Amino acid sequence: MPNTVIIGAQWGDEGKGKIVDLLSRQSQVIVRFQGGNNAGHTISVAGKKTILHLIPSGILHPSAVCYIGNGVVLDPFVFIEELTTLASSGIDVSPKRLGISAKTQLILPYHKILDQAREGLRNKDKIGTTGRGIGPCYEDKAARIGLRASDLQDKDLVLRKIVRALSEKNILFTHLYGLNAIDPEQCAKEILELAPKILPYVTDVEAHLAAAEAQGQNILFEGAQGIHLDIDHGTYPFVTSSNTVAANAATGTGIGPKRLHNILGIVKAYTTRVGAGAFPTELSDQYGQMLQSAGHEFGATTGRPRRCGWLDTVILRASARLNDLTSIALTKLDVLRGFPKIKICTAYEYNGSRLEYPPQKEGSLFLVKPIYEEVEGFTEDITNMQNYNALPSTVKRYIERIEELIGVPIAYISVGPDREQTIVR
Ligand code: GDP
Ligand code: IMO
Ligand code: MG
Repeated sequence: MPNTVIIGAQWGDEGKGKIVDLLSRQSQVIVRFQGGNNAGHTISVAGKKTILHLIPSGILHPSAVCYIGNGVVLDPFVFIEELTTLASSGIDVSPKRLGISAKTQLILPYHKILDQAREGLRNKDKIGTTGRGIGPCYEDKAARIGLRASDLQDKDLVLRKIVRALSEKNILFTHLYGLNAIDPEQCAKEILELAPKILPYVTDVEAHLAAAEAQGQNILFEGAQGIHLDIDHGTYPFVTSSNTVAANAATGTGIGPKRLHNILGIVKAYTTRVGAGAFPTELSDQYGQMLQSAGHEFGATTGRPRRCGWLDTVILRASARLNDLTSIALTKLDVLRGFPKIKICTAYEYNGSRLEYPPQKEGSLFLVKPIYEEVEGFTEDITNMQNYNALPSTVKRYIERIEELIGVPIAYISVGPDREQTIVR
């Protein structure tokens, strides 16, 4: 049975949650492999909207089992909150069908404080992080001073690790950021109070995935953020702090890379970005506003307005290459209704040359000029269309031109937020 990795091919918010939910029908296991509650994945079923930040988007399917992999950074307070919200909607979130890897790093209150304090002190070079402590938590992981989920079993270890982490951070808080020092004992106490609620979920995710494989089950790997926010391959330094590329689905869960069979890239039919950083096809005119209002482009995590622009096939070509995309799900196509012409960025002009892939030098993406071609717009309501042939010919032309430009087949076309508003090609 094929396993599938789902990644966002742009700068996040492509509609990964919707597609993961859709494909969870055919998958027994859904696992997140990176990021944390900087993610906001929206699922809409029969008009009811659920936004998930940490728990995999397969959780709404009663027969699915969901895991949070070792590559994720987990805020225990947010995890409990999300459990409570889901349980109050009648969803079974018992440890029978939800697990956290013993190796998952925990986001602690001082990570959030550090994230926000740093951003607060930056001026023009703000990254526009979500303020959820993601970067500082991954820093502690790399510095080998992070607290991991299984540590919650050992009170002394929790305190020792927090004392060590705060011995440095408190100096920054008090001497650089003008904040109060954090009391390690109090911090450890707050975390340990949550331990009895978290520990039942802490498990050996690698073993569960291997067992699922042995039984011929299907595993879905749910990416967060987008490829151009990847710490190595994204628009550095305006990126998140994890690898968002599909290859990290292996590292971030403890499965071998040969087990990642299909790589499905989620592509919004136009482009959006939250936070700072280069965005060659960004529109600051009425069309940008039309995309924002028709697409309800406000962040699912922070509520910030998303910057909007035309589809950029240069960054998508890079995503196809970086991830070896096997297919694409094109989302939010309905949002383009009513635009007289639709533009597609096919290449960049940079230093007098034509580029088919993004330039590599830091900051160079700010300097490129998009080269566009135009296709006819459409006025028909496509939100209830269920098969490809029913789509207006103008819409099919747009889809087929995107396929040509990226060189990857479009297998799913999403024409509305609801699970059912999807054309499988
Ligand atoms: P994710 O982070 O990639 O899971 O995406 P988000 O949930 O942050 O943002 C995608 C938004 O678009 C959500 O509000 C979805 O409900 C919505 N959405 C997803 N697919 C479609 C679609 O095909 N059409 C429309 N109109 N909305 C969609
Ligand atoms: P989903 O999974 C869109 C952006 C932030 C900021 C940068 C770094 O819903 O697609 P961080 O808090 O990660 O250190 O912020 O990354 N960012 C996202 N943008 N969608 C997301 O997740 C994002 N997660 C982080 O806005 O620019
Ligand atoms: Mg999102």
